[in-house]
Amino acid sequence: MVKLTVVGSISTDFIIETDKRPKTGETVEGKNFSTAFGGKGANQAVAAARLKADVYMIGTVGNDTFADELLTNLEGNSIFIDGVERVTHLPSGSAFITIQDGDNAIIYIPGANNALTPKRIVSSQEELKKSDLVIVQNEVPVEAIEALVRVCDELDTPVLYNPAPARKLSKEAIEKVRFITPNETEFSVLFPGEKMEEVLAHYPNKLLVTAGSEGVYYHDGREVKLVPANKVTPVDTTGAGDTFNGAFAVAWSNGLTIEDSIRFGNLAASLSIQKMGAQSGIPTLEEMKGSTLYEKEWHIE
Ligand code: RIB
Ligand code: NA
Repeated sequence: MVKLTVVGSISTDFIIETDKRPKTGETVEGKNFSTAFGGKGANQAVAAARLKADVYMIGTVGNDTFADELLTNLEGNSIFIDGVERVTHLPSGSAFITIQDGDNAIIYIPGANNALTPKRIVSSQEELKKSDLVIVQNEVPVEAIEALVRVCDELDTPVLYNPAPARKLSKEAIEKVRFITPNETEFSVLFPGEKMEEVLAHYPNKLLVTAGSEGVYYHDGREVKLVPANKVTPVDTTGAGDTFNGAFAVAWSNGLTIEDSIRFGNLAASLSIQKMGAQSGIPTLEEMKGSTLYEKEWHIE
């Protein structure tokens, strides 16, 4: 079993399915409302844990009833939550999501996720040191991310940085991480005005640009490659990127090549988008192995 630490957000998603999104001042009738477990950090942790990684989570929840459910959900997915702190001065994180034709638009409210401090990162060194890979996204404060990258660099623990949602990070930190996985929008915020081909070539086997239904672009040291996504009709694409990141992390930590790890991530993501909610469709390893697209030589323990 590989050991991963996920540093990131833990939130409740409030989901509205609708045929039409209202303009300012307009009222429209929606089709359905539901709540689901979300937060990019939690989604990635769940993806990794369902694919049989030993997952330690570092994050923050509030002191409300949402927090109880968020923690119960993480535990129910066999995630270690000793590193998740409760704070009393902020509500648990939430995201307001509208789904139209399988595609989402999200308003994210960090709440307690913003209370993660560099100090807590520094005090988690023991766990970070034991990890095969550490995963982090942008729904926690940038100071905490910078501290994490610095500490992991000192400990020689590789970091996968998923820069979602889009935000800048210092050049030093970008240099120090093992993987960066922006989508195309996030890429243009991190590398404004730069040509994707050139940046990919500058960060071979490190920069993976996820391009939705197209697949994932990276440079293998010789040329830019596109690892195509699996063609599926989505029910809800929320969390597809998170599932990709969690699954890629598990595969790479198990010793698969980068290309095979991307294929593994793509397959997990394509299965995840066939159910409503970020986490409900995330496959288990058994479900992955049951897919006709699963490749026999992928040895995931
Ligand atoms: O990546 C999807 C997640 O981002 C959702 O679960 C929601 O919490 C949003 O912030
Ligand atoms: Na889903």
